[in-house]
Amino acid sequence: MPITPATLSQTDDGTPYAPVYDDVYHSRAGALAQARHVFLGGNHLPERWADKDHFVVVETGFGLGLNFLATWATWHTQIDTLRCRRLHFVSVEKHPLRLSDLSCLLAPYKNELPGDLVDALIRQWPILSAGTHRLVFDHGRVILTLILGDAETALAQAAARADAIYLDGFAPSKNPDIWSEAVCEALAKLSGAGTTLATWSVNGEVRRRLSAHGFELLLEPGFAQKREMLTGTFRERRPHPNPGLPHGRALIIGAGLAGTATAERLATRGWRCTIVDAGVLAGGASGNQAGVIRPLPSIDDNVLSRLTRAGFLDTLQRLQHLKDIHHSVQWDACGVLHLARDDAQALVMQQAVVALGLPSELLTWLDQPQASDKAALSVAAGGWWFAAGGWLNPSDYCKQLLRASGATLLENTAVATLCQTDHAWAAFDTTGKLIAEAEIVVLANATDAPRLAKPYSDALPIRPARGQTTLLASPPVPAPESVICRQGYWTPAINSVSTCGASFVVDECDLTMRTSEHAENLATLREMLSAETGSWPTPEYATLGGKVGLRPIVPDRLPLVGQLPAREDAAIASRSRAARARVPGLYVNSGFGARGILFASLCAEVLASQIAGEPLPLSKDLIRTIDPMRYAHRKS
Ligand SMILES: Cc1cc2nc3c(=O)[nH]c(=O)nc-3n(C[C@H](O)[C@H](O)[C@H](O)COP(=O)(O)OP(=O)(O)OC[C@H]3O[C@@H](n4cnc5c(N)ncnc54)[C@H](O)[C@@H]3O)c2cc1C
Ligand SMILES: C[S@@+](CC[C@H](N)C(=O)[O-])C[C@H]1O[C@@H](n2cnc3c(N)ncnc32)[C@H](O)[C@@H]1O
Repeated sequence: MPITPATLSQTDDGTPYAPVYDDVYHSRAGALAQARHVFLGGNHLPERWADKDHFVVVETGFGLGLNFLATWATWHTQIDTLRCRRLHFVSVEKHPLRLSDLSCLLAPYKNELPGDLVDALIRQWPILSAGTHRLVFDHGRVILTLILGDAETALAQAAARADAIYLDGFAPSKNPDIWSEAVCEALAKLSGAGTTLATWSVNGEVRRRLSAHGFELLLEPGFAQKREMLTGTFRERRPHPNPGLPHGRALIIGAGLAGTATAERLATRGWRCTIVDAGVLAGGASGNQAGVIRPLPSIDDNVLSRLTRAGFLDTLQRLQHLKDIHHSVQWDACGVLHLARDDAQALVMQQAVVALGLPSELLTWLDQPQASDKAALSVAAGGWWFAAGGWLNPSDYCKQLLRASGATLLENTAVATLCQTDHAWAAFDTTGKLIAEAEIVVLANATDAPRLAKPYSDALPIRPARGQTTLLASPPVPAPESVICRQGYWTPAINSVSTCGASFVVDECDLTMRTSEHAENLATLREMLSAETGSWPTPEYATLGGKVGLRPIVPDRLPLVGQLPAREDAAIASRSRAARARVPGLYVNSGFGARGILFASLCAEVLASQIAGEPLPLSKDLIRTIDPMRYAHRKS
């Protein structure tokens, strides 16, 4: 669903006003004062979050983000013993503000709010596309999950347990959909015993719906000219949708993108991580000089289209975050061209651009001359242009993620077996010597994960797909100025050397460089160029450099992220549903296939959020598509 940004106006006294809804964004008596009285006060905040590991606020209608900023400001100015360790704010918004409007409207609040909260929000404001966007502030301790979409459908897909709810649509008479039966039902599903809510509206129909869905309601003194406001408490006990673990020690097997990204995300939640690798950091598939980051859209915005967009946007956020903490990764947003294979595909690609209606930073169509202009080379066809995409050095990414995580890395240490003891997991080498112990294990060891997961490996149908890149010195071969993709890819020159690739041979584990695959890569490259550009002399294949790696692929070409499913026999014996379904303390982050650079950050954030029992950065349906449970108990 394309996102339509808000159209804005202001009332005579300067209060932001939405012509579409004929209503103001906040009380004329002051947005921050309203937020403190109605939303924080009505939910007994900040007292209720004191000393909690994390606390989750869910909001309907993000608007200008003033409730978020007021909540964050309250948390920001407290001492540690009075606040939760991590504050989650999950908000849904159908018509987000354009960055320019947001900057303009929030400017007056810079003096009223502490630190650089307003600037931080503006800096991270996402490219406006449908789906879940995760923005991380205050050293990872304040996490905004901004769901862009209609509350009526999107809230039911939110994967979270709310501690407090802010209901803040426009007036129910003018904006009935955000107070609808579906929204009230979804809010109840996000609630458990003790979840509270608050809103300035005392609308009778809204009260009837909320109480029918299990909230005990109370009328309390309202803000400014409003006599009353509404508060409520959910009383029904419900199992937590994603019960987490207290932080402790994590043992991560594999020091590629999956392992280092997992360590970095777990570390922000207080986990002490040890990464063990049979070889060296980024010595496996993650060791290339350069790979491509860009989404893969589809006309119907299918699962892969939504997941790759989420992965792409999350990677951009992570790269910015790493830069902010002085761990800049070597990469360049030079833009990525994806050329059409033929006329029929060109037509479908153009239709997809129209159907998705994405902002131009995310997706546009360029005809052949425009595409050639971007590449600074004459290319064979027109195609998609991902202006925010580019190339990235995956081994440097691993290095920076490792540094940011503070994890201990044990290199040249192969894990032969894993053993579960009463409260921990232990890893042993081939001689039976203990390597390390921890409360949880994350299998980030790519194609070797199924072996170590035994007897739970049914859910991990990971196979190797050999791939070889080819390095081209430039000159004599003129490299493009943006990345070009078609059946393969070709990057700009990085330190005078460009990368093209990559061959794809399933079930092949041989790691020796092959001249035949250099020839294949160059043939793929020439197909991207117009006849005259591709006519440079063929280099001596045997002299070419490159890198061979094994991609961990899964039949449906989607990642495998989550806690491992238990075997069926164990299932029958155990008590609770959660215990029945999963192996305590055993997780996987793998199956990235040909998109590991793109997926690493998002999948690590999903896994770390699951482990900590926090709101997830993806909708429930996307979480299901990457859950290893999808392959468990398959009938063979
Ligand atoms: C040629 C090629 C080109 C690619 N191009 C792109 C691209 O352009 N864009 C993109 O997004 N992705 C690309 N990819 C995919 C991406 O590189 C992979 O998906 C990603 O690197 C996988 O990361 P990983 O951490 O799962 O695996 P790896 O990087 O292989 O890491 C796994 C680690 O586990 C270790 N290990 C295994 N078994 C054990 C054990 N028993 N004990 C201890 N350690 C163990 C290994 O030594 C290894 O270091 C490409 C891949 C290849 C091969
Ligand atoms: C009163 S404003 C919210 C103000 C905001 N909480 C703040 O702190 O600035 C209401 C918001 O709800 C959004 N909205 C209206 N209908 C919606 C729907 N069906 N789904 C999601 N958001 C919706 C509007 O676009 C608007 O931004």
